[in-house]
Amino acid sequence: MKKQSHSFELRIFESLTELSDEDAALLVQAQKAREDAYAPYSAFKVGAAVLLANRKVVIGNNQENASYPSGLCAERVAVFHAGAQYPGVAILKIAIVAGPLKNSISKPAAPCGNCRQSIFEYERKQNQNIELLLMGTNGEVYKCPSIKDLLPLAFGSDFLE
Ligand code: THU
Repeated sequence: MKKQSHSFELRIFESLTELSDEDAALLVQAQKAREDAYAPYSAFKVGAAVLLANRKVVIGNNQENASYPSGLCAERVAVFHAGAQYPGVAILKIAIVAGPLKNSISKPAAPCGNCRQSIFEYERKQNQNIELLLMGTNGEVYKCPSIKDLLPLAFGSDFLE
C-alpha cells in the first residue's frame, strides 16, 4: 500500500485592507454583484467576479427558481458568462462573496462541489491556475492558489481520452 497526502496553503486575511489593490477591487465587485442576486427561496446571496487575462471583469450571482434545481450558483453564472463572452481568454482569479441575508456574521464560504468541477474544467483547459478569493460577511478573506486544491483527484477531460 502507498499513501499520498494532499494539502494546500490557505491564506487567511483579516480584512480587505491586507490584500493587494487588485484583489480588494475584485472582491468589491463580487460584493456588488451579490446585492443583485436573485435568492428569494434560500435568502442566501452569492456574488462572483471573474478577472480575465484581458483584464476584463465578468460578474455573476446566484439565480434561483421556483423549481429549485433549475437555479444556478453565482460561480457558474460567472464562469459560463466569461466563457460565452470571452471564449479562449484565460481566467486569472475568481472572487466570491457569500452569506445569508439574516445573519450578518458569516465566515467565507467555499464553492459547492458542482462549481468546483465547473471551475476546474476551465483551469484544465487553459493550463493555468485559477486563484480563488473567498469572503463572507465577517470581513475575513481566504485566498486559495488553485481550484485543484479544493478538488483533489478531480475528474477531467483526460479520463475521457
Ligand atoms: N450558492 C452559490 O451561489 N454558490 C455556492 O457555491 C453555494 C450555493 C447558492 C445556490 C442557492 O441559490 C443558494 O446559494 C443556497 O444554496
